Amino acid sequence: MSKHWISKSVAILAAGLLSATTVVAADGKIGDPRNESFESSHAQQYETWKATSESTEKADALAGDPNMVIMWAGYGFAKDYNKARGHFYAIDDLRATLRTGAPKDEKTGPMPMACWSCKSPDVARVIDEKGEDGYFAGKWARLGHEIVNPIGCSDCHNTKSEAFKNGEPDLMITRPYVERAFEAIGMPFEQQSDLEKQATVCAQCHVEYYFTGPNKTVKFPWDQGTTVDDMEQYYDALNFKDWTHKVSKAPMLKAQHPGFETWRMGIHGKNGVVCADCHMPKVEKDDGTVYTDHKVGNPLDAFDNTCAQCHTQEKEYFQGVVSTRKAQVTNMKLIAEKQIVAAHFEAGEAWKVGATEEEMKDILMDIRHAQWRWDYAIASHGVHMHAPEVALEILGTAVDRAADARTKIIRLLAKKGITDPITIPDISTKEAAQKALGMDMDKMNAEKQEFLKTLVPEWEEKAKAREAQYSY
Ligand code: HEC
Ligand code: HEC
Ligand code: HEC
Ligand code: HEC
Repeated sequence: MSKHWISKSVAILAAGLLSATTVVAADGKIGDPRNESFESSHAQQYETWKATSESTEKADALAGDPNMVIMWAGYGFAKDYNKARGHFYAIDDLRATLRTGAPKDEKTGPMPMACWSCKSPDVARVIDEKGEDGYFAGKWARLGHEIVNPIGCSDCHNTKSEAFKNGEPDLMITRPYVERAFEAIGMPFEQQSDLEKQATVCAQCHVEYYFTGPNKTVKFPWDQGTTVDDMEQYYDALNFKDWTHKVSKAPMLKAQHPGFETWRMGIHGKNGVVCADCHMPKVEKDDGTVYTDHKVGNPLDAFDNTCAQCHTQEKEYFQGVVSTRKAQVTNMKLIAEKQIVAAHFEAGEAWKVGATEEEMKDILMDIRHAQWRWDYAIASHGVHMHAPEVALEILGTAVDRAADARTKIIRLLAKKGITDPITIPDISTKEAAQKALGMDMDKMNAEKQEFLKTLVPEWEEKAKAREAQYSY
């Protein structure tokens, strides 16, 4: 009996040791995911990183432009879509958005694990510990207790290296799927200049990507290049769709935020002015030492350290330029939306009066392409600054594809005896548009509150216990 007891206790001990080493992750290549751990060793970078929490505004993009509810009908973004705010809030905002639904346990969705991928250094840590399949498999709630720290130090730096500890940046790609994407476009990370790396760390997240395969793994659609045409061809060749549109039944693509891709085509990208030059400028202290400002936000707020480093005009001049360009892009965006929204409803009508798959095929591809182009052009919010001429050109092609679709639908409707214009329901507000699609927002909101009150506190508690074991 005692022998049995001993071997059992040895087994427990061994298991305990084993799980302790996996929990501690000290052997992995990804550093401590907790931003607070760097508060004393890297005070200026930490304080300025933490200041991203000052960007609190949660602007409701759907309320600002209800057309988007219709354009995303049948997809999560029609439920809820806020403009970006500070990196500090990435985890809070992902938990709170209606898009991630209201899971009850680790098995319920609706979203896949991939949804965490651009929110936290814990993502890099878990991939490092469990491999890509070990991270991606299953629904979003499966590792809610593992992914808890917002975007931070160990997303962009090799925080374990001696160089970093000595105050050097030692920038790093922390996700293997990003490494593969940069290899695909002939820019392997280890061959990049220090300057290029300062854009690439942002391109881990501010890019176009999609979810693929049984485990819904993140992939960048860059195999044929990064322009709107390159990626459209890539997706078409794969027959890939993000969802089927609820009204038109078109096989839709959702652009994420191709900020890196559009920046590259703009005047600053072409001149090697990288994201960090504007969003993370160097700051000189009174004692003459220099550090990088980690408060990633609006570069015009730090004008003297950003634009003024290279340009001689006044801040007001540039504010004028940026706001004019924003107005131009927004105007073209609304023009494209008007055509695309009409095309969705008209295609919906065509189905109702008995159109066949064969008759609809080309029309639906035109709608897909129109909306993909609209989305690629505007989904990365700073595009009016980064590459306004690119955005305007692409929006022009979006209008063209929507016009192709509508010309064909009108002929088809005429063939079916419909010659009157199709009436569009009231979509003048977010609420009206959601109602027009039959969405039960009260139910979704109530379920979300329940999730935030029950499952999230459990995640937090488990994470705290796990992190208490860390010995980075
Ligand atoms: C979004 C990416 C990103 C995040 C998150 C980030 N950094 Fe940085 N960091 C950079 C970039 C870019 C530079 C500038 C690199 C260069 O000059 O080559 C930099 C520079 C540094 C440097 C070099 C010294 C300096 O100030 O230029 C240190 C040290 C540093 N960061 C620490 C941190 C710490 C600590 C955190 C977390 C609190 C953090 N970083 C979060 C991107 C990031
Ligand atoms: C790990 C993924 C990730 C990395 C790396 C990353 N970002 Fe972000 N970024 C996000 C997410 C997610 C948001 C939106 C956060 C929210 O709204 O909760 C965001 C928001 C922003 C915003 C809006 C901030 C505001 O206050 O409105 C800017 C600007 C930005 N990022 C620029 C950058 C730059 C520049 C870099 C590289 C130096 C970078 N990001 C690196 C994921 C990332
Ligand atoms: C030449 C300077 C410059 C460069 C280079 C630059 N940006 Fe920006 N970016 C800006 C300015 C200025 C704004 C704010 C525009 C405005 O006020 O409307 C902005 C806005 C943004 C926003 C939207 C913020 C929001 O809250 O809507 C994101 C995200 C962003 N930039 C990310 C990036 C990334 C990622 C890169 C590199 C791939 C980059 N930027 C390169 C100047 C720059
Ligand atoms: C690291 C240097 C650098 C920084 C920082 C920088 N720029 Fe530029 N900017 C350039 C270069 C280089 C060009 C193109 C070359 C030329 O002048 O013809 C350019 C061109 C421009 C142009 C004219 C081209 C066009 O699109 O019409 C504007 C406007 C502009 N920058 C605005 C800004 C603003 C606003 C900021 C700050 C948010 C900024 N730049 C930050 C280097 C910089």
